[in-house]
Amino acid sequence: MKKRLVMSHDLPGQPDKKARSEGWDVVVPERGGRMSRVGLLSEVKEAFALVTLLSDRVDTELLDAAPRLKIVANYAVGYDNIDLSACKERGIVVTNTPDVLTEATADLTWALLLGSARRLVEGHRLVSRGEYQGWAPHLLLGQDVGGRVLGIFGAGRIGRAVAERSVGFGMKVLYTDSYPWEEGEKRLGAKRVAWEELLEQSDFLSLHAPLLPDTEKVMNRDAFSRMKPTAILINAARGGLVDEDALLEALDKGELFGAGLDVYDPEPPLQSNPLLKHPRIVLAPHLGSASVGVREEMGRLVIENILAVWEGRPPLTPVG
Ligand code: DGY
Repeated sequence: MKKRLVMSHDLPGQPDKKARSEGWDVVVPERGGRMSRVGLLSEVKEAFALVTLLSDRVDTELLDAAPRLKIVANYAVGYDNIDLSACKERGIVVTNTPDVLTEATADLTWALLLGSARRLVEGHRLVSRGEYQGWAPHLLLGQDVGGRVLGIFGAGRIGRAVAERSVGFGMKVLYTDSYPWEEGEKRLGAKRVAWEELLEQSDFLSLHAPLLPDTEKVMNRDAFSRMKPTAILINAARGGLVDEDALLEALDKGELFGAGLDVYDPEPPLQSNPLLKHPRIVLAPHLGSASVGVREEMGRLVIENILAVWEGRPPLTPVG
């Protein structure tokens, strides 16, 4: 078996160098580059290990083209881009990059929350266009954050880190999850509630659930119609959790005050998507884990998982 590693993208911190220093033959696009689907399909033929991004579909077509593949190391915590059962059938290990990106993603979630609450991007545009004419009592009034209700859908690592940050704002935390978060209940006074109650009580509703058949478009017309008209939706998880047409309709009907989005469906969003122009939506280009240090850590974890599988050790962060 050859130590051959195929990376669909060049990654920050060049983790491929570490693999090369361990004697791996690494196929990686040029600096800052990405491999096309066609390129990937042909390069994986001899690969033992494959490093993918959340934008790479790891499906039967790709797996069938990779008969020697033993590990898919996804450079993301989410892995909805991977056909896990097809990997399992073929004895291929799948790993992700949890923990190292939790705090950065929670920070970005809060940036969207504060930016949406205080209409920061609308304000930025006003000033940068030279249209700001001085302090005015009615100018861009937003929503208070302190003392309000923060709703967390999905109290996993990132949802919890988002909730932890609310302490300084004196917020009440509600969450919906299949499992109780006992530590959060004790320390933060967080309360586990039914989905409907989360929708009805939250001033800020932040989504942190994985994209699964039963969470797909969980934010639909019915969900928006239950929310407070002053509420704000934040999504730094996966675009597929939100029915974007229903979101637009809710904003236009005044059922919702605003939204902060880091993710879209599809991603990237089509240029014609009216969400992109809506004044009450703060948009980010999937920046959850985008800090220099975190991206390097993600790269390190990806390579360590591959080395572990090669050496017959258990991978550090397996999924499925
Ligand atoms: C992930 O890793 O799944 C995140 O979406 C990256 O920001």
